[in-house]
Amino acid sequence: MLNFDYYNPTQIVFGKGSVARLSQLVPADARVLVLYGGGSAERNGTLAEVEEALGERTVQRFGGIEPNPSYETLMEAVALIRREKLDFLLAVGGGSVIDGTKFVAAAVYYPRDPWHILETFGTEIASALPFGAVLTLPATGSEMNNGSVISRKSIQAKLPFSSPHTFPRFSVLDPVKTFTLPPRQIANGVVDAFVHVIEQYLTYPVNAPVQDRYAEGLLQTLIEVGPQALAVPEDYDVRANLMWTATQALNGLIGAGVPQDWATHMIGHEITAMFGLDHAQTLAVVLPAMLDLRREAKRDKLLQYAARVWNIDTGSDDARIDAAIARTRAFFESLGVKTRLSDYGIGTDAPQRLLAQLETHGMTALGERRDMDLALSRRVLEASL
Ligand code: NZQ
Ligand code: ZN
Repeated sequence: MLNFDYYNPTQIVFGKGSVARLSQLVPADARVLVLYGGGSAERNGTLAEVEEALGERTVQRFGGIEPNPSYETLMEAVALIRREKLDFLLAVGGGSVIDGTKFVAAAVYYPRDPWHILETFGTEIASALPFGAVLTLPATGSEMNNGSVISRKSIQAKLPFSSPHTFPRFSVLDPVKTFTLPPRQIANGVVDAFVHVIEQYLTYPVNAPVQDRYAEGLLQTLIEVGPQALAVPEDYDVRANLMWTATQALNGLIGAGVPQDWATHMIGHEITAMFGLDHAQTLAVVLPAMLDLRREAKRDKLLQYAARVWNIDTGSDDARIDAAIARTRAFFESLGVKTRLSDYGIGTDAPQRLLAQLETHGMTALGERRDMDLALSRRVLEASL
């Protein structure tokens, strides 16, 4: 096992009715900014429930945070907070709203132009406003980690940052709040969480059996509950299990002490920035080609994945790896998430343009061994068409 330093201070308050707990979770004298997205939280009553729980506190709203939250929009929230001297942030939404809130929290008192946070991947953040979250979409794990991904439309960039200062103080996870999600977002959430586990599991063995078995359990749970969540949208237990699985897929635990890949995510971010695909759609496109082309470096774990997650144990090594990749692709497709760039109307000129952006953003040595160069990214993108 590799050395690690694991720290996760986020309090999770889970279950039906837990939005009411905000009355205790948010400091009584806080001047609160509630941040939300394009209006789903307003339409389905979550925002009203949140504000009721906040009671007599000073509360202002900031709506309009887009999927793939933009620097441009978030800087408006930063200005509002500075102007109104607000001191506690509450994100109500999915990964985009929570990620956006992390950025705002770090940007308010950042001593330089806050875009510098993305240029330095968050390494120079020295403090952030305290914030909590009410999660409405199980997918990213942002509710229990310190990472965030921010887009800047004007330069077609989508870049990650993280910092010990950007963990939520708490996150409220009420599975009932996911009942209003459209099927596309449920499917996206299952794929995103699945790929989060894969990026931390499907690398090379370091004799870390508990991380492996935990990751395999999360993958098998997603394979089981993902289709159920689509088939029966208001099944509380299914949504509860999906929600808790997605949180654990990226709260740091399964990634402690093991190599991590993240190449699929970094290439996916460029596809979203350039073509606007949903985050999970990009992952569904890139991952099957990635696994196929990096099968030598990942051979041992691919065989383990085939056997333990998909119960494939006959045929040659390569035949089993082929079958596991095919099952992965078929799983994404069965949820309704397409797995080819061409399915999204993206043509053969895309790899060249995406490679230029990867280079601009310094994404030239990706993967668990940092040996994934632009030539290999090109092959992956060409195989994703
Ligand atoms: O904006 P509103 O109107 O609220 O609608 C949202 C949005 O259109 C809707 N939605 C959310 N909850 C709903 C709902 N609609 C009905 N009922 C509800 N209960 O869903 C749409 C998508 O929301 P979004 O927050 O964008 O989705 P998701 O949670 O998948 O977040 C994706 C973002 O997270 C980043 C991605 O890159 C992307 O920008 N990620 C963040 C990570 C992290 N912080 O650790 C890791 C991930 O790999 C990922 O990169
Ligand atoms: Zn993701």
